[in-house]
Amino acid sequence: MTIILNDAEVIDQIFNHIDGKTTDLADKTWQEPIENYKSEERFKAEIALLKRLPVPYCPSASLPENGTYVARTAAGTPLIAVRGDDGIVRAFYNSCRHRGMAVAEGSGSARTFVCPYHSWAYGLDGQLKHVPGADGFPDLDYEKHGLVQVHAEERSGLIFVTQEDPISEGALEALPDFFNPDQVAFDKIEFNDNANWKLLAETSMEGYHIKALHNKTFYPYGLDNINIVETFGPNSRIVFPFRRIEKLRDIPRDERRLSGMVTDVFQLFPNTHISVLSDHSLLIILEPVSPTETRWEIFRLNNRMKGGKEIDLEKAKRDASFVTDTGLGEDRHAARSIQAGMAGKANEFFTFGKFEKAAIHFHEVMDEMLTKLPKG
Ligand code: FES
Ligand SMILES: [Fe+2]
Repeated sequence: MTIILNDAEVIDQIFNHIDGKTTDLADKTWQEPIENYKSEERFKAEIALLKRLPVPYCPSASLPENGTYVARTAAGTPLIAVRGDDGIVRAFYNSCRHRGMAVAEGSGSARTFVCPYHSWAYGLDGQLKHVPGADGFPDLDYEKHGLVQVHAEERSGLIFVTQEDPISEGALEALPDFFNPDQVAFDKIEFNDNANWKLLAETSMEGYHIKALHNKTFYPYGLDNINIVETFGPNSRIVFPFRRIEKLRDIPRDERRLSGMVTDVFQLFPNTHISVLSDHSLLIILEPVSPTETRWEIFRLNNRMKGGKEIDLEKAKRDASFVTDTGLGEDRHAARSIQAGMAGKANEFFTFGKFEKAAIHFHEVMDEMLTKLPKG
């Protein structure tokens, strides 16, 4: 069960907003204390929460065949996810059981993981298979020295990982399918920003800044402050319509399709969002490094179809470069500027207005989840 509106329903609501000069609104405003962006203690609690929630780790499409793996740091912890010979994705702490070096970096395809330090070798199921000079470890129990597994689950076209005991059951129910098996994860880009991860996350949660911040990049194509905002569980969906959606007014309601007419953004609580654009999609994971630094991990995929036609992979790649080189840069700049300003005493809290409904939902859920964290 999902509460995601279908294409025709979203388009109806967008036309209502355009005609009525309105947009979706929260039922209240929100004040978020600056301290929640600055405090070390709060940061630690957020990392603890990230370890206990099922958090997207990579798209299924990044693990297309048995033996393909993705190694990356999630919630400050190096992990590796790999599709086993049985087709099942497993995730492990990426730390060798000899003296702890990472057994793989980046992504690729492997039959075994051989630690670069002294060549202990592990199977795709994490089992320790080979120790060079095994007579140096007379009492070694191979069974007990496999890679240590964390919980991984594949659904909705994503791999979710939970590192520690989950804080709530059923968190993954009611998710729609975000990606189809025929989409290609064509690359991954990574970079760091000197900004708290929530400042960066907030830039994708509202369309109130399209005209001001993205005046020459997105605004020529997109509408300012006209959005559909749906919440589902801790998550939300924000639809950003392009001006060309007007073309759909002449098409019978049941034949109207959103693809190519909007940027469809799914906020997966807390640190992930999926942007479905015209020709490509982005899985964006914001990895908190410290209260003042964040690492972006962006998986880029092609969309297969638009208006009943196949999209060429090269076109998807060009489209992806435009978005990450222009509009995303403006969002990053805004977040870094806010971060810098927090050194002063201008604001004790930031105010989110009714247009910023998804951001309010995010902060509200965050407060609620943090109170459920086990103490200590
Ligand atoms: S640390 Fe991995 S083999 Fe020694
Ligand atoms: Fe933006």
